[in-house]
Amino acid sequence: MINYSSSELNVFDKKSLNIFLFNKKNLNEPEEVLTKFELEADKEILGEMISDDGEAVLFPVKSGGNSSTLLFFSVDQSKQNELRNTASKLIKSVRGKKFENIYLNVFPALKNPSVSTFRELLEGMMLGEYKFDKYKSSKDEEKPKKLNLVSSFDLENVISETTLLFNGVNLSRDLSNEPANVLTPETFASEVKNNLENEYTSVEVFDEKMLEEKNFGLILAVGNASANPPRLIKIHYKPENAIKKIVLVGKGVTYDSGGLSIKTTPGMFEMKADMAGAGSVAGAIYAASKNKLPYEIIGLLPAVENMLAGNSYKPGDVLTGYKGKTVEIGDTDAEGRLILADALEYANEFKPDYIIDLATLTGAAFISLGFLYSAMFTDNELLADTFDSAGKSTYELVWQQPLTKEYKSLLDTKMADIANLGPRHSGAITAALFLQHFVDEKIPWMHLDIAGPSIKNDILDYNKNYNTGYGVRLIYKALKSGKL
Ligand code: BES
Ligand code: ZN
Ligand code: ZN
Repeated sequence: MINYSSSELNVFDKKSLNIFLFNKKNLNEPEEVLTKFELEADKEILGEMISDDGEAVLFPVKSGGNSSTLLFFSVDQSKQNELRNTASKLIKSVRGKKFENIYLNVFPALKNPSVSTFRELLEGMMLGEYKFDKYKSSKDEEKPKKLNLVSSFDLENVISETTLLFNGVNLSRDLSNEPANVLTPETFASEVKNNLENEYTSVEVFDEKMLEEKNFGLILAVGNASANPPRLIKIHYKPENAIKKIVLVGKGVTYDSGGLSIKTTPGMFEMKADMAGAGSVAGAIYAASKNKLPYEIIGLLPAVENMLAGNSYKPGDVLTGYKGKTVEIGDTDAEGRLILADALEYANEFKPDYIIDLATLTGAAFISLGFLYSAMFTDNELLADTFDSAGKSTYELVWQQPLTKEYKSLLDTKMADIANLGPRHSGAITAALFLQHFVDEKIPWMHLDIAGPSIKNDILDYNKNYNTGYGVRLIYKALKSGKL
């Protein structure tokens, strides 16, 4: 990550790039900058456009006798989430530019910035500077080593908190971008162990033998056909000042081929990210523990590869879960809800104040809400409100959908307690109702179907090219709000 700092001063010399945010519609603003800092435009050379969309202009100036360079970067304050998105574009545009010092000014576009203005810019830059190029022989142009936020606020705490938060975001992004030939249930477990274990956090991994001893029948069935056997990863963060206990459950399918109900090739392509829920739970606990949030958090990450072989589980099978409930299999591609069912029944045993699960669970949620929203399911108003506001402020948005009781019968079968497949309609809802079947009714529970927002997309600049790590900032913000 770039080394971020803050101070009130700009220096104008050859080695420095001074960035200014301006409103494209207000053409006087670049002039304001020249006047305020007593700079002279270099008349011979006009600005050089450095972005395709005409949003960024490099501008040579003279300060006293010295020449220096300004970068005018346009910000459109009528757009939502504009500060993060602009900051992301901005940090990409200075890649490969050889300046020793970079100063970012919110002047002249923003006359009254607050601390959260700078927090959002910082987040946008950290999101935008992310890359996953370990498998590329030729690397992207180098990003700057350090950047100074020009501000009269003391931003030291904001910068250190955000840096730790982003170590969690980037951990989640790395895990979901890692191809499935590298990230198997086993290597996933060791990555979690290596990154998460610290003074207040322990990691325990159940291997296939332990899963058998403890009767995790659904996790074992889904993982059965893979050469890479399943794991259940348990993270436990227990600070001394915990005010509540929360279990976070994450779907950890390291690859979803669909199993015998096999997917098409285009349908498989993104399925290395079918563990994004588990990755974001790991990232969120990392961020919470590094920033010492006062919640005891247990993370349960069932990790499996959904493959095909002679010993695959099959449509028509009846399987028995962790606590003895039976499931008739209608489709082996509805595997996520199965492994989550075992993990949720295990979650009940901790008698937590809340259970929250994150899962790339259904194509239906993605079709309905696209890349910007996860589908939120809960009967608990406090959870719904807390995550709704955390979503708006982080722009990791949620949109509530109903846990319609009448639809529960769509999962009825004469063969077992419940079926893992409903009809084509209301697919995200029946998946959520399936999960609810395994959660203790007395424990407030929320399910986030993150199939859309965890996958890379072209809607937000910082989600281009790489999977997003959706959920880490959302959970962190919800916990930080202190409402839970
Ligand atoms: N992992 C997929 C859901 C998914 C689809 C995530 C697209 C991200 C992008 C899940 O396991 C799945 O295959 N669901 C099926 C369920 C169906 C068989 C009831 C689906 O949505 O088609
Ligand atoms: Zn599937
Ligand atoms: Zn899946």
